[in-house]
Amino acid sequence: MAGREHLRFLGRAAANPVLVGAVLPSSRALARAIAAQTDPAREGPVLELGPGTGAVTTALIARGYAPGRITAIERDEEFADLIEARWPHLHLIRANALALSDLAGETRFAHVVSGLPLLNLPAWMRERLVFDALSLLLPGGSLIQFSYGFHPPVEPPEVQIARAAQVWLNLPPARVWVYRAAD
Ligand SMILES: C[S@@+](CC[C@H](N)C(=O)[O-])C[C@H]1O[C@@H](n2cnc3c(N)ncnc32)[C@H](O)[C@@H]1O
Repeated sequence: MAGREHLRFLGRAAANPVLVGAVLPSSRALARAIAAQTDPAREGPVLELGPGTGAVTTALIARGYAPGRITAIERDEEFADLIEARWPHLHLIRANALALSDLAGETRFAHVVSGLPLLNLPAWMRERLVFDALSLLLPGGSLIQFSYGFHPPVEPPEVQIARAAQVWLNLPPARVWVYRAAD
């Protein structure tokens, strides 16, 4: 199963490297480190941006989120088909997550978990995505973003940013960043 998903991911990455932004799905270690930054005891659903083949989705479910408590936005149709087939109760939105504020409606989330390849975007788009995601959070919520860079993908001064994890067991090694609205 994992081997087939890796091949599928590689195929989509070859077809659209800028959109996919990685050659392999997140490792189990990275997916767990991302999910560890969420708290299923907090009220509210979780929004996942760019689930791909579902590596992080799997970790969120293992952490305690029922699929029906997860909304995911995926732009690639093949990945979206895969997520839909795997978790029919997950709320899947087939769309460009960069139009986030138009897509989420009135729902507010405990966490936004993003696998979007932000480093492939210009800085102003990254910043807009961060502010849009923070505006969709319930009080005290967080945006969790991973990246392959040594610095946060965007560092707006008005936002609190913490490096939550450094994961060596991933190709390439990755860092997990947690963004919160400043008090
Ligand atoms: C680096 S992969 C991460 C996949 C998965 N979250 C993981 O960790 O293995 C990026 C994912 O984001 C999706 N994606 C990239 N840009 C997107 C956009 N603007 N809107 C929605 N999905 C997007 C890609 O199709 C891909 O599934």
